[in-house]
Amino acid sequence: MSSGVVLLLHGPNLNLLGEREPEVYGRATLADHVKRVASLLSTAGFECVAHQSNSEGDIVEHVQAARKNTVGMILNSGALTHYSWSLHDALRSYPAPIIEVHLSNPGSREQFRHTSVVAPVAAGTVSGFGGLSYDIAVHALVTLLASTRDTTA
Ligand code: DQA
Repeated sequence: MSSGVVLLLHGPNLNLLGEREPEVYGRATLADHVKRVASLLSTAGFECVAHQSNSEGDIVEHVQAARKNTVGMILNSGALTHYSWSLHDALRSYPAPIIEVHLSNPGSREQFRHTSVVAPVAAGTVSGFGGLSYDIAVHALVTLLASTRDTTA
């Protein structure tokens, strides 16, 4: 039996993973990362629903739609991370844990990447480990959900 659905959400330009700046983001494609996350979640008893969009409005819509039917979110919001207050506000209304993920380490890159508007509404952030960032994010989310599960039910 599934313990619930986890939303894996990717923002702008992440559809180009594998081709885009491979020296920064690696050679794995978005489909590779999604497959790995879905498999790790499945092993832990969760379903994965994945979306990617280059549009800020679509990303906000996906966050809103996930409010009632998901138990957590793994989010790589790409450059929206650094300035999208509409994403920040949508995430604020999301009732379950959010793990912010980045392949690169934005803190060691250009100044504009040092700000995250996602971090204040995330349970935590994993960045800088390439594809391993997603593995760590799954582990963190699953551990968090297990610790908050109602054991009296
Ligand atoms: C990214 C980091 C962001 O600064 C950038 O805009 C991206 C990818 C990452 O995964 O390292 O699109 O989120």
